[in-house]
Amino acid sequence: MRIVVTGANGQLGRAVVAHLQPHHDVVGLGHAEIELSQPATADVIAALRPAVIIHAAAMTNVDGCALDPDTAYRINTLGTRWVAQAARRSNARMVAISTNEVFDGTATHPYGEYDSANPINPYARSKYAGEQAAREILDRLYVVRVAWLFGGERNFIRTVLRLANDRPVLRMVNDEIGSPTHAGDVAQALAQLITTDAYGTYHLVNEGSCSRYDLAQAALTAAGRHHVTLEPMALADYPRPGRVPLYTPLANHVGAAMGIRLRPWQAAVQAFVETVG
Ligand SMILES: NC(=O)c1ccc[n+]([C@@H]2O[C@H](COP(=O)([O-])OP(=O)(O)OC[C@H]3O[C@@H](n4cnc5c(N)ncnc54)[C@H](OP(=O)(O)O)[C@@H]3O)[C@@H](O)[C@H]2O)c1
Repeated sequence: MRIVVTGANGQLGRAVVAHLQPHHDVVGLGHAEIELSQPATADVIAALRPAVIIHAAAMTNVDGCALDPDTAYRINTLGTRWVAQAARRSNARMVAISTNEVFDGTATHPYGEYDSANPINPYARSKYAGEQAAREILDRLYVVRVAWLFGGERNFIRTVLRLANDRPVLRMVNDEIGSPTHAGDVAQALAQLITTDAYGTYHLVNEGSCSRYDLAQAALTAAGRHHVTLEPMALADYPRPGRVPLYTPLANHVGAAMGIRLRPWQAAVQAFVETVG
């Protein structure tokens, strides 16, 4: 089956291509091949005649989106629309990757797939509108929200381990709570999901939730960096251009009911740290 993956050089896209390549005819598209802000993206993708499109490309710099919401809208909202149009033209199924940030963070329990979205920053608004744009165009659509990804070269865990090389004390936010998620685990879950015709909304995250502080601690412990001390700080003490929702753990109810379940985040962090040393 021909599967087109956008964002193929990004953290999730790379993991998806690596996981699916041995079993399918995978075409990975990087930024050099498609420019999401251009409607011609639909032509480029449709010409490849995909059976499935996994749309992992996005403008993911949350602060950059806050500073330039128009570009975020053109890439994350309209870009997703062009990809959905390509899926419609080629009669392909589509996976639209979305984010925990579609929620406003005011809940007191992990967000389920059908909790109401209420994005509070330009990145989140552009991603949620992207979900809606794809829903408007496609029936055969999986909207897959992920969160706090790690697995590639640039992510929170890599940053913590790098900073720990030359700093004995690190300050970490302890009031932002989410679901850390291994990109490779998402890739594996997507491989299962696209074999089904169970279209709809999914939260494919590692099980459980924690603060940035807890995640940093788990990564340092897994890496044997016991000499580094963490000091808690509040998100409010770290000024950002846009608002960040404080509490966005996701609950994977739908996938789990179908047997698509990701391991607990602690095991995923341990496995990732073992691969990066
Ligand atoms: N990272 C997270 O913690 C997180 C959390 C929740 C949801 N998500 C979602 O998960 C998906 C994958 O995230 P990720 O962490 O893998 O992101 P990533 O590493 O930043 O990769 C995104 C890819 O999209 C490409 N891209 C950016 N702008 C583009 C454009 N205008 N046209 C074409 N390609 C473009 C980038 O290419 P260049 O680098 O060459 O520009 C990059 O390779 C995204 O939909 C993101 O919103 C991520």
